[in-house]
Formats: sequence, structure tokens, C-alpha cells
Amino acid sequence: MSKGPAIHTRDVRRVFESRKGFFFNELVRTEALRGVDLDVADGEIFGLLGPNGAGKTTFTKILSTLLIPTSGTVEVLGMDVVKDAVRLRPRIGLVLGGERGLYNRISARENLRYFADLYGVPMERRDRRIQEVIDRVDLTSAADRRVEEFSRGMKQKLHLARGILHGPEVLFLDEPTIGLDPKSARETRKLIRSLVADGVTIFLTTHYMFEAEELCERIAVLSRGRIVARDTVAGLRRLVGGDRTIEVEAYGFDEGEVARLKHIAGVSRIVSEEFGPKLRLTLRVGTTDLSLDTIRNQLTNHAELTVRERRTSLEDVYLDLVEEEAT
Ligand SMILES: Nc1ncnc2c1ncn2[C@@H]1O[C@H](COP(=O)(O)OP(=O)(O)O)[C@@H](O)[C@H]1O
Ligand SMILES: [Mg+2]
Repeated sequence: MSKGPAIHTRDVRRVFESRKGFFFNELVRTEALRGVDLDVADGEIFGLLGPNGAGKTTFTKILSTLLIPTSGTVEVLGMDVVKDAVRLRPRIGLVLGGERGLYNRISARENLRYFADLYGVPMERRDRRIQEVIDRVDLTSAADRRVEEFSRGMKQKLHLARGILHGPEVLFLDEPTIGLDPKSARETRKLIRSLVADGVTIFLTTHYMFEAEELCERIAVLSRGRIVARDTVAGLRRLVGGDRTIEVEAYGFDEGEVARLKHIAGVSRIVSEEFGPKLRLTLRVGTTDLSLDTIRNQLTNHAELTVRERRTSLEDVYLDLVEEEAT
């Protein structure tokens, strides 16, 4: 029998009401989520990508039963996150970004003992399970040191150890590498990949496009509380008109030239930006037929002209999407 989706949501909305102003007399209403539909398959690693304030943490907290949605359907492992929260909690794990949530004055192992008791890990298995997760996150040699001596990267490993301690079927990771140095971030991503290999369903949020690209099978882009795209990396590239990105640089272009480039068959989008003393045009191209010479031929009389092609990155697509939403 095939399992149902690990995560299933329909039209999820969340409104925050807070007071501000000198007398706290001004009621501010924020629509953090404005109708989110999402399905994540069992065993999948799914990435929710979005800029600051998009609603990623709000959505992660709702999925992991920490926050109640204002309206909509939210099911994890076939259970309603509001009505079945107590039954669901032992089967999911959550790692929120940041430094909080650990006891600094005791060792990593003692922290994990505390959480194991909290999660109801049976006593006879407890210490063996703790050693397993310590080895798993590569904290073996530091396990008995006080957490206050830990680097940011070691603390994040301990957070992950805590998140998997009770053997969750679905793991929620909110910006798992935020604030980590590049080496620790790489180790964290490696660990996340190894969890997927064990069959854990992973839902992670990030504002690093390369991270989503590196880790995730499918990605959804969240912008101002709405999903503006949802696809595989290859699918997202196709969404903005093709796989090719061509960069053209010179000391300025006139309007006629840019218009001529726009009219070349296969060019779907042109963005211009200053690049040092030069101007750079970034072209998204949806056909393999267009040669770089076709572009050069439209741009004569430039003292220094460079035309080069590079692979469209997820970052390009992501910026296009978030930009389009903003206008
Ligand atoms: N407790 C809260 N009270 C009021 N507004 C909130 C609260 N939590 C989040 N928000 C607002 O909801 C929006 C989404 O926030 P958040 O989910 O933290 O976004 P992200 O994690 O993508 O940066 C933001 O505008 C934020 O200010
Ligand atoms: Mg957040």
C-alpha cells in the first residue's frame, strides 16, 4: 500500500494582530500567510524558499503544531495539526534557527538526556539512542563538554541531534544553516542529506537559493504569504523562459539597442544593472538556436563589449519570481 502525502495543506491563512503606537492603540493586522496549498510526498526533501518576512517560520510553526492557523486545512502524516496535535507531536521533529533552546551549563549528552525524557524515549534505550545521535551528528568527541564552550556550528549539530532523537518520520528545519560558517553549513547539509537516505521526510526553509538547489527535489517559492512557484529546479528554470542566461557588458547601451535585443526570437526577459563602470544586460533565452554572434551583431560600435553565456541558476529564477511579485 502506498502511503499518503507526509504534508498536505489547503488554503492556509494566518493573520497576526498586534498593537503599536505610543498608547498601543493602533491595531496592526499582518496577513503572514494568504492561502498556502502544499503537498509533500513521503520520504521527500522539500524546500520552502523565500525572502525575510515571506512567512516561512509562520508556516513551519503551523506544520509542527506550535502555532494554530487562522483558517485552512493542515495535515501532517494524515493527521490534523490542530485536532490531532498530541498524537502527531511524537512523530515529528522541529529545529528552529538561532541559538536558543539549549542548556549552556550542562554537556551535550546531558541536554539530550533531558530532551529524551521530555519526548518519552524509553529508559532502557535512552543512553544507547543518545550515543547513536551524537555519533550521527559528529559530536562524539565533544559530547561531554559543556555547551557554552560550543561553536555556533556545534550548537546547530546538537539542535539537529535533539530534533532526531525520538526518531521522527517528518523533520522540519527552519533555516538550518543561518549564521553558520561555510564549513559548518556544508557539514549540516551533508547531515540533512544522510537523514533523507534513512527515509525521513524533510521540510526545510531557506533564503539561500543554492542551498535549496543543492538539497531539494522540489521547491516552493514563498513571497508575501503566497506561493508564487512550485516545481523541481529544472521546472523552475523553464518557468522563466528557458535554461540559458546570456550576459552582455559594455560602457552603456542605448535604448534602440536594448529594444533590438528584446526583439530577437527566443529572448524572454532582459534585466539591466550597473556592474562597476559598465552596464550589464542579463538575457534569459528560451531557445538553443540563438548564437552569441546574433547578439554581437546587434551591438556594433562598442569599444569594449563582452558577450558570454552561463548556466541559469536557481538564484536567477528566484530573483525573477520575487521581483515579479513585487511589481
Ligand atoms: N507573532 C507575530 N506577531 C505579529 N506579526 C508577526 C508575528 N510573527 C510573524 N509576524 C509577521 O508575519 C510575517 C511573516 O513572518 P515570518 O513567518 O517570520 O517570515 P520569515 O520566516 O519568512 O522571515 C512578517 O511580516 C512578520 O512581521
Ligand atoms: Mg523565519
